[in-house]
Amino acid sequence: MKVKINLTYILTHLSKHHFIVFHFLYSLYAYLNVYFITMAIQGLHFLFVFIFTSLGILHTVSSYNRPLPRKDIIYLAEDLNSTSPQQVHISVYGEDEMRISWITNNSAPATVDYGTSPGVYTNSTNGSTSSYNYGSYQSGEIYDVVIGPLQPNTIYYYRCSSNSDREFNFKTPPAQLPINFAVSGDLGQTDWTNSTLNHISNSNYDMLILPGDLSYADTEQDRWDSFGHLVEPLASQRPWMVTQGNHEIESTSYHPEPFTAYNARWRMPFEDSNSTSNLYYSFDVAGVHVVMLGSYTDFDSNSDQYIWLQADLGIVDRSKTPWIVVLLHAPWYNSNKAHQGEYQSVDMKASMEGLLYQARVDVVFAGHVHAYERFTRVYNDTADNCGLVYITIGDGGNREGLATKYIYPQPEISLFREASFGHGQFEVMNATHALWTWHRNEDDESVVADSTWLMSHSSDPDC
Ligand SMILES: [Fe+2]
Repeated sequence: MKVKINLTYILTHLSKHHFIVFHFLYSLYAYLNVYFITMAIQGLHFLFVFIFTSLGILHTVSSYNRPLPRKDIIYLAEDLNSTSPQQVHISVYGEDEMRISWITNNSAPATVDYGTSPGVYTNSTNGSTSSYNYGSYQSGEIYDVVIGPLQPNTIYYYRCSSNSDREFNFKTPPAQLPINFAVSGDLGQTDWTNSTLNHISNSNYDMLILPGDLSYADTEQDRWDSFGHLVEPLASQRPWMVTQGNHEIESTSYHPEPFTAYNARWRMPFEDSNSTSNLYYSFDVAGVHVVMLGSYTDFDSNSDQYIWLQADLGIVDRSKTPWIVVLLHAPWYNSNKAHQGEYQSVDMKASMEGLLYQARVDVVFAGHVHAYERFTRVYNDTADNCGLVYITIGDGGNREGLATKYIYPQPEISLFREASFGHGQFEVMNATHALWTWHRNEDDESVVADSTWLMSHSSDPDC
């Protein structure tokens, strides 16, 4: 018996209910189709990798691979009213002050009330507000209030815009060593970012330092807002000190000005170190002089940044800050195939490496390459006891995924490299010793996969 399917009859007799059922079944069919095709492609991919690896044709990272990026998670603060403080984050200012930054949708007082007990605000400080336009996007009110003087290593409770619905607290950094830095680059706002942030949150860190590429908003300004919501639980409790990456530039034909959102939302204490730009600055914390450089602004020997860096390094007092740490985005040393030969790496290194070497900088943290790599002490591509330890820590978890391809053979100056998501902890114990650990996000657990003790150059009479 033949069954005739009359499409016109079906369509004309479909009720709304039928149509929903039909649509559901068709969607399920389409989803399964895509799923099975994806699985088949992945299966073929793993089969080829297995065959070529077995034949020694294709090198892969042997120890641990975490190749799949995770999707963006968008954090919207829907329960907040129009004058509720949101996206709160803090950064150190000078020796004993803290900048509090936040945003509201509608105008509210630019006030921070604070004290050392919950709900008891013994001090109050006013600051300033700003906002910016980007295409059709109009930012909320961005607040900037510097409070202090504050006691070191002390928990303060605070509220923003006189709003008692949301009380925050932070801990000030210690005045003297030891101090513990969390280090994370190329964060983004994916589920992997969340995993990294959870590990950092559970660690006993005093300050987060970030070598560029924060939100991966990539001109979609709402994504700066969702990034602000995502990091607020951490960034409102500990100072987050950042420098810029290429994803902060956001210069387009319809908005040629670079770094608009970054400079408006992540204002750092550049004036305090005599810098004229938010793109490079320095500060002292405990016994560490931290220098934040800009890979995406001028760095040649006639540039403002170079002249500023030379002066800044020239006045470092090693008896006060026995350690010098530098952060920048595009790595000067890198044996990953990603981002090889870029101007910001090659030419900036050629311009500034000598300055850092002569100043006996201890460590340089970079990002950009979405993987982890640690070098021995290096100067001019050669192992050197008085050289700098270069660490790439661009594995925060962004949507672009990992950089899994490496140059072989591994250069002798590269001691450890791996393409996995994770973060670093730099514990400066005293004037002579610091412990560096790299924490891999393995199955959402934080695992110490690499660690090394470092001695400061200032404690080495030969350097
Ligand atoms: Fe980058």
